[in-house]
Amino acid sequence: MSISMSSPMGLLGIIPGLFQVALLLSLVLLLINVAQFYMRRQWLLKAVQEFPSPPSHWLFGHKYEFQNDQELQQALKWVHEFPCACTRWMWGSKAFLMVHDPDYLKVILGRSDPKAMGSYRLLSPWIGEGLLLLNGPTWFQHRRMLTPAFHYDILKPYVQLTADSVQVMLEKWEELVTQDSHVELFEHVSLMTLDTIMKCAFSYHGNAQSNRSTHPYIQAVGDLSNLFFSRVRNALYQTDMIYRFTPEGRLNHQACELAHKHTDQVINQRKAYLQEERELEKIKRKKNLDFLDILLCAKMEDGSSLSDQDLRAEVDTFMFEGHDTTASGISWILYALAMHPKHQQTCREEIQSLLGDGSSITWSHLSQMPYTTMCIKEGLRLYPPVPSISRVLSKPITFPDGRSLPKGIIVSLNIHGLHHNPKVWSNPEVFDPFRFAPDSTQHSHAFLPFSGGSRNCIGKQFAMNEMKVAVALTLLRFELAPDPTRVPNPISRVVLRSTNGIHLHLKKL
Ligand code: HEM
Repeated sequence: MSISMSSPMGLLGIIPGLFQVALLLSLVLLLINVAQFYMRRQWLLKAVQEFPSPPSHWLFGHKYEFQNDQELQQALKWVHEFPCACTRWMWGSKAFLMVHDPDYLKVILGRSDPKAMGSYRLLSPWIGEGLLLLNGPTWFQHRRMLTPAFHYDILKPYVQLTADSVQVMLEKWEELVTQDSHVELFEHVSLMTLDTIMKCAFSYHGNAQSNRSTHPYIQAVGDLSNLFFSRVRNALYQTDMIYRFTPEGRLNHQACELAHKHTDQVINQRKAYLQEERELEKIKRKKNLDFLDILLCAKMEDGSSLSDQDLRAEVDTFMFEGHDTTASGISWILYALAMHPKHQQTCREEIQSLLGDGSSITWSHLSQMPYTTMCIKEGLRLYPPVPSISRVLSKPITFPDGRSLPKGIIVSLNIHGLHHNPKVWSNPEVFDPFRFAPDSTQHSHAFLPFSGGSRNCIGKQFAMNEMKVAVALTLLRFELAPDPTRVPNPISRVVLRSTNGIHLHLKKL
């Protein structure tokens, strides 16, 4: 007798059957997952056995050691205990090698292992497959295409554009300190660096700083950075299908849309401009194209143009990398100088003798401020804007001390740990610009704020110029002092930020 679907009795007969199948399937899936977990864990335990670390929980890894926004401080304890490298377990089946030794880093950066997709992949809904996330031949093609955008002939006129943006920020600070001498830097500096990258790389004069304490794009970047940090650490959030339906996944989606709205606006305005044939011809005749011109006029080696998706990814990548890193760098350097008034004053005197009142700062001035440059480097050592990066080994590796790892292991290049490693830097917590004096010697891989090797930072020179202009012009106008009631707490959120902001007292000079 056939069971009719319209009969309630028939349905009742079917549902338990379906449940049984579903239950059985779930059980099989669970068993497969448990077996995979077990096998992966056994493989990892064997692979990293030469690199001990403090005991970890079989399921939660070192979760309990890295709590309460004290992650960097905890990692530094391990740097002292294990001066070359140690294993960090994220959860039972995920571990990576944390490396903070210059000889180890030299070996890794001399190879061409791809980015560790477990973490970088999570950035792709936001910044797309741009230069930061690409690997292999496509990365090489894009890097070659974009390198001319950082030629010094292109960078030279940016000094004035940067100075203009910095002056807007300083005017705002002058107004603010008439009421209260205290200012939270990160927000203001982020608006300034956003303004600068938009003018320099995208020829977009949007006045991000005008009359607003915040900007929707800056807000989105802050949210996306926090959400990224939370997702990387949550085993349950790794699958896109699951993450999408969680409250954090939805927030992430909204923040990406906000960020893309901003970059779309920049692209569309430039595209509309280039629609006018005369303008396009003018740009093609220019000897040195800016970043967005290069992208829009790009023809790949096979003669095709850059797809809209690729173009958007590069704009998203450079919009983010080009402002958040330098905002972190400048804010922490100013904080370091506020903490060290003597060094601050020596920098100020150097800049005063070079620039007078600072009404004009040019490319040639930037190489004539050695003491300020030493202080900037020391600031980048103590507070590296990109605290760590990671790779997945594409082939086995052997380190100088003979220890080795197999293909497939993730290595985290712990730049913050390296810069604070007492084996590499004596008294690493002391701010001492003379570490970077011209006659001082260091290991080639002891100082890596911009990473190294073929995948080093493409914007390094741009960033150094921007930091010099910002520090020089700020010191001419203000005396900086720390706020003892609000000591910043450094945290790694893609870039180095502070849980409670970076607060200073400013005194107009
Ligand atoms: C103080 C400021 C900066 C610091 C400390 C910094 C640091 C870094 C580091 C450590 C990397 C390596 C990332 C990795 O291997 O995963 C990197 C890559 C990169 N940076 Fe920067 N950066 C800064 C400013 C900039 C600026 C201003 C731009 C653009 C205008 C930029 C664009 C990029 C891009 C596109 C990459 C990927 C390069 C590639 O893989 O070929 N950065 N940066």
